[in-house]
Amino acid sequence: MRKNKIERETQIPKHIAMIMDGNGRWAKKRLLPRSVGHKYGMERMIGLMEHAFDLGVEYMTVYALSTENLKRPQDELNGLFNLIRNHFKEYMGRICERGIRLRILGDVTLLPDDVVQILRESEAETLKYDTGKGINVALGYGSRSELVRAVNQAVERGEKVTEESFSNLLYTGGLPDPDLIIRTGKEVRLSNFLLYQAAYAELYFSDKMFPEFSDKELDKAIVEYSYRTRRFGKTDEQLKKH
Ligand code: IPE
Ligand code: IPE
Ligand code: MG
Repeated sequence: MRKNKIERETQIPKHIAMIMDGNGRWAKKRLLPRSVGHKYGMERMIGLMEHAFDLGVEYMTVYALSTENLKRPQDELNGLFNLIRNHFKEYMGRICERGIRLRILGDVTLLPDDVVQILRESEAETLKYDTGKGINVALGYGSRSELVRAVNQAVERGEKVTEESFSNLLYTGGLPDPDLIIRTGKEVRLSNFLLYQAAYAELYFSDKMFPEFSDKELDKAIVEYSYRTRRFGKTDEQLKKH
């Protein structure tokens, strides 16, 4: 019988990536400003990360701001940057204390200088950790611009790339590909997130808005992942042999 709870035999994905969508709609439904939705979203993000690492997940990548999101009204962007200014160091410090290395993915030149400084300082704080666990926060991130940047780097070096050397030119260079990508907020699309890295990720879409995506909802996604058969192009018979 299929269960909904994490059990001893549940396969825990090594790397979970999350498209944290639905903060605005969650707030609107409660007649609250969108910024309140983002604040709740940020708190939920930390809670989910804590839960995921407790379960044995090794990498968590979260999509916090896309290159396209930078075209949102300046008011909303200021609210998001203020969240980083006021809470990022404290929240991230609290979770990374467990020996987790932080990496920012994206073109930070698109963000205000003081925000970049906070992000870089937070990353630097975690360089001392070498446990193989990581949190990646995608900010000012777009997969297409990441790919174009990598191609240009390869061209400048005048080298032909391999799949491996090319993936090392991405913001995620050196990290394992995500095993499971979860998107909240009812939409069923990737919205320019990890297009290269997602080649063999299992995709999971939730109707919950991100601030209401509870630890139990994460468990549900992991259990569903655990029931999937990852064939990587092979046949079931081939998989049984190993
Ligand atoms: C996701 O929530 C967070 C960001 C993109 C910054 P949204 O702000 O997109 O929320 P909805 O989709 O409008 O509900
Ligand atoms: C994707 O959400 C980006 C993040 C969650 C940071 P969007 O709300 O920007 O996605 P679209 O515009 O609905 O595709
Ligand atoms: Mg959205």
